[in-house]
Parts: sequence; C-alpha cells; structure tokens
Amino acid sequence: MSPAGAQTLKEAIGKYCLIGAAVNQWQSDGQVPEADAVLEKHFNCAVAENCMKPETLAPAEGIFDFRVADKFVNYCRQHNLKVLGHCLVWHSQAPDWWFTNGYAAAPASKEVLKERIIKHIKTVVGHYKGQVHGWDVVNEAIMDDGSFRKSPYYNLLGEEFIEIAFRTAHEADPDAELYYNDYSMSGQAKREAVCRLVRNLKAKGLRIDGVGMQSHNGLDYPNLEEYEKSIDAFAACGVKVMITELDINVLPNPEGFGGADIAQNFELQQKYNPYVNGLPKDKARELDERWMALFNIYYKHRAQISRINLWGISDGGSWLNGWPIKGRTNYPLLFDRQYQPKPVVNEIIKLYK
Ligand code: XIL
Repeated sequence: MSPAGAQTLKEAIGKYCLIGAAVNQWQSDGQVPEADAVLEKHFNCAVAENCMKPETLAPAEGIFDFRVADKFVNYCRQHNLKVLGHCLVWHSQAPDWWFTNGYAAAPASKEVLKERIIKHIKTVVGHYKGQVHGWDVVNEAIMDDGSFRKSPYYNLLGEEFIEIAFRTAHEADPDAELYYNDYSMSGQAKREAVCRLVRNLKAKGLRIDGVGMQSHNGLDYPNLEEYEKSIDAFAACGVKVMITELDINVLPNPEGFGGADIAQNFELQQKYNPYVNGLPKDKARELDERWMALFNIYYKHRAQISRINLWGISDGGSWLNGWPIKGRTNYPLLFDRQYQPKPVVNEIIKLYK
C-alpha cells in the first residue's frame, strides 16, 4: 500500500469485508480489458451475473453445461477474485423442464422435483467443490408480507424445499459458506420472516452462514432506518450480513413497480428515460449523497457485514438499463460507461481509510 494509505476500494473496504461485483459473460470470457483492470484494482471477489443460474447450467434433463461458468471460475482465479456462487434454487431463471413431467406435459410430482433439486445441487456444488467461497443456496423464497412465495418449489414441497437445498449443498461442499438471499429486505414482515427462517434452519442443525440483502436501491428507497434495522436483526440471528446486489436506480419508476422480481416489465415511455445524454448536476449530486448514505451505514455496521457486492461494474453494463423497462440509460454503479471511477469512489475510500 502507498504511504498515502488506501487508494482502491479493495485496499480500503477489504480491511473489513469482501468487496465484489457481478461479472457478465463478455467480461468473464475476457473480451473486456477495461473490466479486467477495474476488477483487479478494486475488487477481491466476484459473482457470475447469469451463468451459474440453473437455466444455464441445466438446459435439459440429464445435461449439465459448465462451459461458461468454468470460464468465469478460471477468470476469477486469474484475476485474484474469490468466487461467489449465484444461485442454486430460485423461481426465476430456472429450467422449465424442472417443473414438468417430460413428454406427458403434466406437472412434475413432488418426488421428481425433490430429486431434481438434489441432483442439481449435488452436481453443481460438487463440480466447484473447493473453488466457491459461498453459495446463494435459496434466492427470493419470501414475499414482502412475510409469507412464503407460492413458487413451484413451495407449491409441491412446502418450506421443506429450503431445508433440502441447504442440506444437500452442505453435503456437496462442507467447506463452502451457505446463504439465503432476497430483495426488499428492509420491510418489517420480510425481515421477521427471514429471521424465522434462519432460526428454523439452525434449530434443525442445518448450516447457514449468511443472509444476503440484494439492495437494488433507489434514490428514495429503501427507508434507511428500516434497512439498518434489518442489518442488526439478521446479525442478531447469528449470521453474517451481506450486501449482495448493490445498485442505485436514478430513473423515475413506472407506477406499480416495486422490489426486484425480474418478471416485472413495463413499456418504454420518454418520461421514464430522462437522462439519455447524461445525468444533470443536481441528480448526480443526489446520487453521490445516496451512495455516501449507504456506505456510511455499511461502515457503521462493518463488524456485521462480511461482503459488499455491486450488481455490475460499469453503468453501461448494468441490468437496470434493461429492467424493468427495456432500452433506458441508467447510472446505477460506481464506474461510468468508460469504466472510469466516479468521484464518489474516492469519498468511499476515504470513509474506510
Ligand atoms: C439479473 C441479471 O442481472 C440480468 O442480466 C438477468 O436478465 C436477470 O437477472 N435478483 C437476482 C439476480 O438475484 O440474479 C438478478 O440478476 C437481479 C435480481
């Protein structure tokens, strides 16, 4: 480290926790040298944005396709990044065939779905045994009102699907950390339900190391007091707290939008895409202030937080240009479209120095 102290995110924040980013396929295929440079300089861990999800790894019954994900894991090794696995069981981006009974085109039975989950987790976690620091075992199983999501897993197996997933993942790689991950984690009902889930899993002797708060945030959501309460509440359940998919949306949201269910889709209208030619100064200032408000919370809770992970590297690659409305220009990350750090990066580094 230079005499002036920490100069990069990983030198500063890395003293307390992991600092990572989601990496897309073009980046992990090695096609984006700017991404390589930013990752090497500022980050010490990475998550695959899509290629470790079940629909990619298990495109058809009996077929596992590790080609893209293997490249991602090799890429992480080359660039000194710990690998985080995302994700094993999720209602979105799951292969359709999991839920149907092949040529009979009937829904899968309870036994068949259970077997498929177990086989998937054994195969995938086993394939990467010793190479993945921790897995998002179950993603988004709880609704904002605290009830279980009525996903095909829940509808067939009840809440037992979560135990099955955690048990199988632990058996397949006893050294990997295991996490529950979800969005809108600052709501009270969801917070309490996630705490119940963690305590139940622990009471049954199952391993769970951490809770991931996705944190797809906006300029005026979530309520930061509630957000902090959730950090404290999860930590009080005896697990690590992780900020897993951090970004800040600066664009106006369409009516009815909320949370981060990727199935949301609204029509593009000009009023929802106001900053095509750049962010006006006042908005940029508001965005900087929001970054600092969040990082002040992360710094304050640094003893509880084991990882801060951005959902992407640079603004141009963010999924928020395409969701929940396709074709917008958003500014949700810490590096601009040229992969240059925004001025706020230095402020964050100073905060942690
Ligand atoms: C998103 C990816 O960023 C997109 O490229 C993809 O089209 C949809 O999924 N919660 C999650 C992530 O857990 O896996 C999602 O990633 C964003 C919301």
